[in-house]
Amino acid sequence: MTDLLITNARPYGGDPTDLLITDGVVTTIGTGRSAPDGVEVLDAGGAVLLPGFVDLHVHLREPGGEESETIETGSHAAALGGFTAVFAMPNTDPVADSDVVVEHVWRRGAEIGLVDVHPVGAVTVGLGGERLAELGTMANSRAAVRMFSDDGRCVNDPLIMRRALEYASALDAVVAQHAEDHRLTAGAQAHEGAVAARLGLTGWPATAEETIVARDCALAREARARLHVCHISTARTIEVLRAAKAQGVQVSAEVTPHHLLLTDGRLTGYDPVNKVNPPLRTADDTRAMREALAEGVIDVVATDHAPHAAQYKDTEWQAAKPGMLGLQTALSVLIETMVEPGLLDWYGVARVLSERPAEIGRLADQGRPIAEGEPATFALVDPDAVWTVRGANLASKAANTPYEGMRLPGAVVATVLRGRITARDGKVQA
Ligand code: DOR
Ligand code: ZN
Repeated sequence: MTDLLITNARPYGGDPTDLLITDGVVTTIGTGRSAPDGVEVLDAGGAVLLPGFVDLHVHLREPGGEESETIETGSHAAALGGFTAVFAMPNTDPVADSDVVVEHVWRRGAEIGLVDVHPVGAVTVGLGGERLAELGTMANSRAAVRMFSDDGRCVNDPLIMRRALEYASALDAVVAQHAEDHRLTAGAQAHEGAVAARLGLTGWPATAEETIVARDCALAREARARLHVCHISTARTIEVLRAAKAQGVQVSAEVTPHHLLLTDGRLTGYDPVNKVNPPLRTADDTRAMREALAEGVIDVVATDHAPHAAQYKDTEWQAAKPGMLGLQTALSVLIETMVEPGLLDWYGVARVLSERPAEIGRLADQGRPIAEGEPATFALVDPDAVWTVRGANLASKAANTPYEGMRLPGAVVATVLRGRITARDGKVQA
């Protein structure tokens, strides 16, 4: 039975074509087909067709933080942003450090059904950094956890990190490190540099990230384990990664859209919407991030989508929680920073937003090439659209976008998950 005919779509920005989809799988690619009776037609209008986006790093806040986001509202934001799979970080309440909690998150995601929600399991019990959580139990649960992280906190203790890598390796899982030596960032409020000095904010030194990444690469090499470094933010971290990769260490890294576009120059007004961890860095750092992403030293873009209800953000800088929304603006920021300047073509966008993240997260049916016999899991993108970001119009429960009022290029026309349209023209297809 044929389910869907997508017409006039341009795979990876190439020539327009049609795709016939049956039971969630692409059966035929080619022009000149009329729709069989009763088939839903999606006229792509010449939009760019890409594999659905995979986000290795989101905070959906459920359970426990429902005033900021739920799995449902986060799933809406993801579908509208072109995402077909997301990895939900475990810094919830209770923490996702057991089979019970990861299965809850996984089940809720499946019930909503707009995006594949993969829970990330905590590395340590309660994110306490002291005792390893039961990684095997989470891996063997129905949620089949393949990524572990204490994100929000660094696994600072080298012995715990070593054990986590050893266990993860045996489970074919990856440890995603929030690289921040907490001894070096005690009380930190902004990137350590001229801007923080002028504003009187305690600095978060770049070395707090670089030293942990260097240490963890050494540990990953010895454990023959896979290490993923979350939200890298400093130019010298890139050099550490480059060296480790050259030596065959199994390390991957992500950069967030905000660390590609925004700098600590935005902090002068003390608006907590710009507060994020790791902090916004310098223009030299953003430039280095863009070059390393183009080159492949940075593997993926991940949003670190971090919704916070107004009560946590509309407060003075020191008290505000770090984090910013990302799911519905990620593609546009990537177009602005990488595609329009000629650093990435559409194949490159597919690589950093879909193919590599699916590989790292061990998702067999995401990040696949656009071809006959492959899953019909897509993002359709109008690269010529321009829109103005309004936090109040985003699907997230919270509105803490740093791009408020900015005009950004590119829009997601539709998102398709295994042949089902999940979002179209800015609306979720329930
Ligand atoms: O800015 C951040 N927000 N960085 C993190 O590591 C955690 C996240 C959150 O949970 O809000
Ligand atoms: Zn983090």
